[in-house]
Amino acid sequence: MLIDTHCHLDFPEFDADRGEVLKRAADAGVKYVINIGSSLQGSINSVKLAKDYPNVFAVVGCHPHDSRDFSEQDIETVRSLAGFEKVVAIGEIGLDYYRNLSPQEDQKRIFVSFLRLARELNLPVVIHSREARDDTLRIMREENVKKAIIHCFGGDQIFLKECIDRGYLISFTCNVTYKKAGNIRDAVKAAPLEMICLETDAPYLSPEGYRGKRNDPSFVRILAQEISRIKGLSIEEISRLTTQNAREFFGLKLDEP
Ligand code: NI
Repeated sequence: MLIDTHCHLDFPEFDADRGEVLKRAADAGVKYVINIGSSLQGSINSVKLAKDYPNVFAVVGCHPHDSRDFSEQDIETVRSLAGFEKVVAIGEIGLDYYRNLSPQEDQKRIFVSFLRLARELNLPVVIHSREARDDTLRIMREENVKKAIIHCFGGDQIFLKECIDRGYLISFTCNVTYKKAGNIRDAVKAAPLEMICLETDAPYLSPEGYRGKRNDPSFVRILAQEISRIKGLSIEEISRLTTQNAREFFGLKLDEP
């Protein structure tokens, strides 16, 4: 069994066939998915998905891209959403200095607010960090963050080492399969297996061979195969360990033993 720990099935790309996509994922062994809210409306829709589908869990928060328009009132709305039992973390939150779609000051302000909310609610955090390693690590240290997962990990070895030292989990997407992703495969090699989770970030980042098409949670299987090749372990072992990691980190209540 596999878990897709980060996808966006609330996006309009899935409006026509959401139920089918989840069924196909389950048939491929991806029995559970964690849907990530990336905006206020996305968080509301994530919780709705978790209510509608037994095998979906929700994460609520605000992507750094959307920080500009996020108010204190919106944070209160997220706080009330987080009270639903299938909400398993706050995210995705963080900093994105690659695209800078919101001013960096807004990104930092909202990031800190959400880290404090997560601590207050005793929930882990799902972190998005792009071209912003130093500020991400500094703010997380200042806010004394203990339980975090770094989503869509790139190939930054300095970032990797610091995250591992702090006990943050590392989450890899299907971009591990890309021809030019040698640095990300090196990160897979270096990361201890008990700290790795698997995700698609669907609809984005389809694996090699499917690029340009919509990604979906069933492709976690392709990612697991690639991780199994890199680590030199069976896919069963990779599935077992990464599922266990996700289950413990998010405190998932699953039907399986
Ligand atoms: Ni995402």
